[in-house]
Amino acid sequence: MIEHRKGISIAVLLIVAPPLVTLIATAHQMIGTGGDGLIRARAVTASAPPATQAPATAPAASGAPGATPGATSGTAPGTAPAPTAAAAPPKPPAPVPGRSALDFSASRPAWETFLRDADPAAGKQLAANGKPAAGVQACVACHGQAGITPSGGIFPNLAGLSSEYLAKQLADFRSGARVQPLMNTVARALSEQEIGQVAAYYGTLAGPPMHVGEFGGDAARKLDVQGDGARALPACANCHGLRGMGEGPLIPRLAGQSREYFTDQMNAFRSGSRQNDDVGVMRAFSQRLTDAEIQALAAYYAGPAPQQR
Ligand code: HEC
Ligand code: HEC
Repeated sequence: MIEHRKGISIAVLLIVAPPLVTLIATAHQMIGTGGDGLIRARAVTASAPPATQAPATAPAASGAPGATPGATSGTAPGTAPAPTAAAAPPKPPAPVPGRSALDFSASRPAWETFLRDADPAAGKQLAANGKPAAGVQACVACHGQAGITPSGGIFPNLAGLSSEYLAKQLADFRSGARVQPLMNTVARALSEQEIGQVAAYYGTLAGPPMHVGEFGGDAARKLDVQGDGARALPACANCHGLRGMGEGPLIPRLAGQSREYFTDQMNAFRSGSRQNDDVGVMRAFSQRLTDAEIQALAAYYAGPAPQQR
């Protein structure tokens, strides 16, 4: 009888015990120190800091600055990880600076901050007067009143370009990413705030009226609207808008720029003396065009010569 009862209780114990152990283990994981939180903290945040923190804490703990190589390679790995591993769980994981693995947005360029809350009225003043104390001529002296250069030539119209494109170019002239001595001098004498202001101001101005009529002939028109598949040349209009009207914040208007400025830029992209087209598209495309095609495209976008010439 006793033997029988003992057998039953052992059987009951065998049946009940495994699920009970599982239950307790699960409860421990969910509440208390276990659970999702710890697993995440170990996998994502804690794995990087110990590697960098260990050398920083080890010399301080050992108090032997003279023996740093020996301390870090010999004794520190044995002793340092243990205290940090024991001390880590109570501390909330420090926020990891920078982007998360789920952030697929483009990285933000520095000049974006120049434009934040930029005052176009201050930019207008700067454009009209320059910054005599820093030896900067008025923008209008070279770029014309209201951003349209009467004579064209090497001076581009600024009206009709977006604030973003203008700010990027000024930032590039300032950093030296785009090289042109006159504009490198101007941009380096301006503060980030002033770059934001002039870019905001010129971004409000309408470009020269779109010209009607055909210039540059069929070859140019075809390159604009169709490109040339055989040379892997996309249509210019794909990016620059039809007839070079400009598109999006960072693709400049070509319509109305002088032939000289246009050819200067195409030659600069071609030779690599202008390399601030971030992914290199303009350097690539300009190399696939002939001299005659660049001349034709210059005429196509410039339209009729300004009266003043
Ligand atoms: C001394 C003449 C001169 C002055 C003054 C001058 N610029 Fe320029 N700027 C130029 C020339 C020349 C270019 C063409 C640069 C090149 O060929 O790469 C240019 C180009 C630019 C461009 C690039 C346009 C484009 O389509 O990519 C911007 C933006 C610009 N200037 C802004 C300014 C602003 C803002 C000021 C006033 C603070 C100013 N410039 C003052 C001569 C001048
Ligand atoms: C894939 C898009 C793309 C295509 C296609 C393209 N461009 Fe561009 N182009 C750009 C970008 C972007 C810039 C501005 C680069 C920078 O940030 O300085 C630019 C700049 C230029 C400039 C300088 C304008 C200025 O104000 O300084 C000229 C000139 C130009 N492109 C001509 C052309 C011509 C001509 C074609 C057709 C043969 C063409 N582009 C096709 C993207 C394109």
